[in-house]
Amino acid sequence: VPRSVDNKKHNNAKSGDGEGVVAQKSDATKSNGTVPDSSETSSSSEPTQLTKKQKKKLLYKDEARPKKLAHKEPTTDAIIQKAKDLKKHRLSLPIYTARDIIIKEVKENACVVIVGETGSGKTTQIPQYLLESGLAAHGTIAITQPRRVAAINLAKRVAEEVGTPIGQKVGYSIRFDDSSSRDSLIKYMTDGIMLRELLSDRLLLRYSVIILDEAHERTLRTDILFGMVKSIQKQRQELIDKGRKDVQPLRIVIMSATLNAEKFSEYFYNAKIMYISGRMYPVKILNTIEPQSDYVDSALVTAFQIHQEEAPGDILIFLTGQEEIENLEKLIEEYAVDLPPSVGKLIPCPIFAAQDSATQQKIFEPAPQGTRKVILATNIAETSITIPNIRYVIDTGCHKSRGYNAKIGIESLLVEPISKSSARQRSGRAGREAPGLCFRLYTEYSFDQLEEDSIPEIKRCNLESAILSLKATGIDDVTGFDFMDRPSKSGMLRSLEHLYALEALDDEGKLTEIGTKMAAFPVDPPYAKVLLQSEKMECTKEAIEIISLLSVDSVFSAPSSKREEANEARQKFVSLDGDHLTLLNTLRAYESVKGDRDWCRENFINSRHMRHVMDVRKQLIQFCERSGMDPKKSCGHDLEIVLKCFLAGFFQNTALLQPDGTYKSIIGGQTVSVHPSSSLFGKKREAIMYNELVFTTKHYIRGVSALESAWLPQAAPKYFGRRQA
Ligand code: CDP
Ligand code: MG
Repeated sequence: VPRSVDNKKHNNAKSGDGEGVVAQKSDATKSNGTVPDSSETSSSSEPTQLTKKQKKKLLYKDEARPKKLAHKEPTTDAIIQKAKDLKKHRLSLPIYTARDIIIKEVKENACVVIVGETGSGKTTQIPQYLLESGLAAHGTIAITQPRRVAAINLAKRVAEEVGTPIGQKVGYSIRFDDSSSRDSLIKYMTDGIMLRELLSDRLLLRYSVIILDEAHERTLRTDILFGMVKSIQKQRQELIDKGRKDVQPLRIVIMSATLNAEKFSEYFYNAKIMYISGRMYPVKILNTIEPQSDYVDSALVTAFQIHQEEAPGDILIFLTGQEEIENLEKLIEEYAVDLPPSVGKLIPCPIFAAQDSATQQKIFEPAPQGTRKVILATNIAETSITIPNIRYVIDTGCHKSRGYNAKIGIESLLVEPISKSSARQRSGRAGREAPGLCFRLYTEYSFDQLEEDSIPEIKRCNLESAILSLKATGIDDVTGFDFMDRPSKSGMLRSLEHLYALEALDDEGKLTEIGTKMAAFPVDPPYAKVLLQSEKMECTKEAIEIISLLSVDSVFSAPSSKREEANEARQKFVSLDGDHLTLLNTLRAYESVKGDRDWCRENFINSRHMRHVMDVRKQLIQFCERSGMDPKKSCGHDLEIVLKCFLAGFFQNTALLQPDGTYKSIIGGQTVSVHPSSSLFGKKREAIMYNELVFTTKHYIRGVSALESAWLPQAAPKYFGRRQA
């Protein structure tokens, strides 16, 4: 991670070529004392209270009146005029020169792979070309997106270009928001929605063409869709060959922003790859000389430096999530007040999912004369959405979406370094209309350490999670599934067995009710089982807390110079029952001092990890609330319940004490050693369970707690019952 060294001197970071690129904060802004408080800045905003008269006016629903007209929707004339205006833009896109050949290839081939520079027009133009060429005559043209915001935004844009209100010819469908109709000829949708539609329309008969966009991202869902559409295409053809008149062939288009598309081609029977060249101006890359400890702060400083020193052109900052985006937005607004009058305004424009579309559309509009926009986005702006007029990119080197935490398998929670290929895509955003600059908030050395490409999600996530997803999509024969990257057969069988033991699958390998619930949980199956079990055992609060604590390496820090001191400090938290409850004690103590940093330092608690823990906990609580569980249900002081609850997910990770004092795992009879960092190190208990097995010089187990062997049959009746039989 580029921000590993903790130095507060962000002002001395320099570019790779020796130029100072990151200004001192005091250059751009004044010290805190002069920053006006927010009440002052917001006082000028319009009052939102309705007047008495307005309050009296009631609105009635009139079925006969088109709903759209009630709001300030553009008139038909305005829509048609807008489409005319956009026509010029459409004709100027690089992809336009390839229009006829794209139509020809898609018409003549069952499957085509299209690779093109981000912004060349793939997502917005290709569906329109296919529509114009008559390919929507026998069904809708569907185009999938990994991100909801992209699906909505692009659909709205294309509706404007086509010249009809959104929801008519062009619609979108995302979870909880469907603005498409039976008449929609082009439909933008998330990959999740398409998987859902598959459950009710096995052959996706309503679609004539399916475009799988952003294929390079290789999300688990897109990977499942690859296999599904390939098989649907074959099945439909078989029906047609049998003379079924009501079935039409399915055309598949795969679109990607990165060059390595051979894999897609091979998978789809050596489909033809078409390369669309984009326009690219040179982008100069600047790396910081020193690692940055706080990239939000460094981004803030860099943005003001660009604003004061560089030529006109907007700035795009890549951040990791909504909270960070909102933080930086506030900071920029605060500091911008202190810009000297000679310098134009700097206007922050955030883009994230939970945002109304008018606000979102603002990022595409030019900044007023003499001002500069600074767009704050997640990696949605990497390849999904192209924002015009960007000359400067600030790359934090991190992302959050679609990340997997290897410890508990929780999705999209921890900030992780991007790949080299992502870093290149990001810098490319600065050179679409003129030569640009990319400020990387990490060192050249850090860049060299990055992975070349991001690893497909199916390889990163736990195989059992992937299997649950497949089963939840209605694919029962997972071993026979046509994976683009096939997991090993033995690994698959082991996972199936484990899922059976967890009661997620029944004797026939079908998803059980428990399994269906587990598939929806954003954590690996054993943890999902613990959460489900916690509902029955009434200890959801504690289960969520411990799972969150297990999501980081360790909440304890043990600097080698002060190991003894650290050990001593830890004794306060130690529970005789082992690590799970020790962690819980630590969290309680941390909360009682409200996360005080001095307290953390004195007690050798890693406060950064602790903050991650709190973040994970928040997300798990939200998830439980959304799925109808009560995250506050607590077992109080009867903490033995919590251990039993964990055993329901981790009964396979158990070991029994041997006469010679060693532990042997119940499954496989492996000798395992309690890791020295565990609170049960050197202790002898009848039976133990653990969360992790790590092999270094020995088979070490971590996250260890004591249990009674009598608990075992109850924790996993299916498993231990079957073994005995
Ligand atoms: O898919 P690809 O990256 O090849 O390009 P695209 O998303 O189809 O974008 C083509 C062009 O449309 C870009 O120049 C975008 O800036 C523009 N566009 C826009 O102006 N407003 C939108 N809401 C979406 C796209
Ligand atoms: Mg695109």
